[in-house]
Amino acid sequence: MDISSYEKYISKETMMGPNSVRILEELLGRHPLRFTADDLILDLGCGTGLTSLVIAKETGAKVYADDLWVSAEENGQRFAQWGVGGQVMPICEDANNLHFEKEQFNALISIDSYHYFAGREGFFQEKILPFVKDGGVVLIGIPGLKDEYTGRAEELLTDWLGDDAYLFKSPTRWKELIGRHERMESVQTWEMDCFGKAWSEWFATNHKFACDDRQYFETIIKPYTCFVGIDVTLKS
Ligand SMILES: C[S@@+](CC[C@H](N)C(=O)[O-])C[C@H]1O[C@@H](n2cnc3c(N)ncnc32)[C@H](O)[C@@H]1O
Repeated sequence: MDISSYEKYISKETMMGPNSVRILEELLGRHPLRFTADDLILDLGCGTGLTSLVIAKETGAKVYADDLWVSAEENGQRFAQWGVGGQVMPICEDANNLHFEKEQFNALISIDSYHYFAGREGFFQEKILPFVKDGGVVLIGIPGLKDEYTGRAEELLTDWLGDDAYLFKSPTRWKELIGRHERMESVQTWEMDCFGKAWSEWFATNHKFACDDRQYFETIIKPYTCFVGIDVTLKS
């Protein structure tokens, strides 16, 4: 994937945190996905739909772009403007209560959002797995805590994140939370390589929230946090 071909879409208006396309690039670099126009991918917690656009272009699949805070109308207008209105469908549903058909998706991708709603044991089996086809894949990239600080999020991150500090968990903890199921072939979690680039691209926007984050980068974000990559492959 050549991220430079998406530069015109990656802006202060479409970014909601560290560069989501950079995080997606690492996930797809590690686990490439090529599909046909009849295949379906769910982009869960897609925000402004930036990653949904890239997923559609890179994989060739039809994409359902679901988000809670950004309306389907707003995302639909953007997809039409971007010329992918026929390939990317906007949806506004809570990840805790999705209404898709069972085993509908060839893949589910979630960038910088899974930690908001899925940090408990059993969530993956109850709320995610039913919608993914046999042989499918789930790719997730989220901010988290470095492994050496497992369980110390509140102590280390509260000055930056306030009451949301508990959302940050380590790769080892996420592997436990994803858990096991007879339909699952493998679960891998790791500390992602794109951390520095994704953060510096966010800071370069000078978005108000980016300026707030920048104040904590050297003292909290860089020493204690990482991006956690999660790759779940289902049995065929
Ligand atoms: C930090 S934004 C990231 C958005 C986008 N994925 C990105 O990387 O730019 C987190 C997103 O998670 C979504 N989200 C949070 N809780 C959710 C839930 N329960 N169901 C669906 N989406 C949720 C929000 O709507 C929000 O857009």
